[in-house]
Amino acid sequence: MSLASVHLTGIGGYLPERILTNAELEQMVDTTEAWIIERTGIQQRHIIAADQMTSDMAVEAAKVALADAGISIDDIDALVVSTTTPDLIFPATATVVQAKLGGKDFPAWDIQAVCSGFVYGLAQVEGMMRAGMFKRVLLIGAEAMSRIVDWTDRGTCILFGDGAGAVVLEARESNVENGLIGSVLHADGAYRDLLKATHPHRPSSPDLHQQVNHESADFSLDSAGTAAVEMKGNEVFRVAVTKLGSVVNEILAKYEFSDSDIDWLVPHQANIRIIQATAKKLKMDIDRVALTVGSHGNTSSASVPLALNELYRSGRLEKGQLILLEAFAGGFAWGANLLRWSK
Ligand code: COA
Repeated sequence: MSLASVHLTGIGGYLPERILTNAELEQMVDTTEAWIIERTGIQQRHIIAADQMTSDMAVEAAKVALADAGISIDDIDALVVSTTTPDLIFPATATVVQAKLGGKDFPAWDIQAVCSGFVYGLAQVEGMMRAGMFKRVLLIGAEAMSRIVDWTDRGTCILFGDGAGAVVLEARESNVENGLIGSVLHADGAYRDLLKATHPHRPSSPDLHQQVNHESADFSLDSAGTAAVEMKGNEVFRVAVTKLGSVVNEILAKYEFSDSDIDWLVPHQANIRIIQATAKKLKMDIDRVALTVGSHGNTSSASVPLALNELYRSGRLEKGQLILLEAFAGGFAWGANLLRWSK
């Protein structure tokens, strides 16, 4: 196959039923509804059910995306799940999703770039599809952030929510300027301690495995601890605004577009003030921005596909429109994609 163009042909989202309001959070930590809305724009978030895992949400979003594309799992030839909250350390959640959807044989793997995972995933999959490796790919961002949040930390627990978003991507043998145009990705691990989730059972940590149990050869682990997000919020905020401002300029310059060419901004939904800063940088009216932060909170790598899904379902997307996707994440890892809507 020669250089193909890559099109988004199906999209779906899933949000768990349980809604956690700011009023409920007032009962849990020292905060107020007014503070949360003013500082973040978040009014509520969805929380995964006790009997669900990340793969269950991914499957629901994938079913909607497959139906939207008018295809079945048998038509898919690769499945990628972006998640920070995998069902297990291994195997990849993508293989769990593949099995639950009844898929067989095609490759399935996870990617981990935290909140930028979907943006990274689009870039990775587009490159592989343009190289002729796959014809139809299912790309899912699915996150159960509520399972790793410290529910006693008011600085972080108010921010996150659960959910999944999925897209079907299809390679076509044409070079028309349509579909995915390209991506820009960055990371800087010097910032890794500003936003992270730790767990006493860190998979590669020597202190909990060999060191504790070397002599007895007893590798059973203390199961008391749970994972927890730690963040220096105001420092993350500052860097996020700067890096997102520069990455949107960079991607426009790289593909020779200007601010005024963008029809829609679909940003990662971390904080309304970060989104407003990026929109301002692009001189975009806020009503040209897909906004779900108020109703979903920060669903990590599910947030961009969920926001795109809501924009699509609202009926406001038109063929030929130029969409700029962007995200910023722990690491830090950040990036952007340009997509010409061709559905
Ligand atoms: N309710 C009430 N007060 C709170 C609070 C809460 N839920 N969380 C923090 N505060 C307090 C702080 O303790 C601090 O009090 P102090 O001045 O007495 O020390 C004060 O509010 C200001 O804290 P600060 O962290 O500077 O607030 P902020 O305006 O930066 O807002 C965030 C905090 C977390 C909302 C904001 O920094 C943010 O969104 N950061 C980026 C988060 C992000 O994008 N993360 C994910 C990237 S993928």
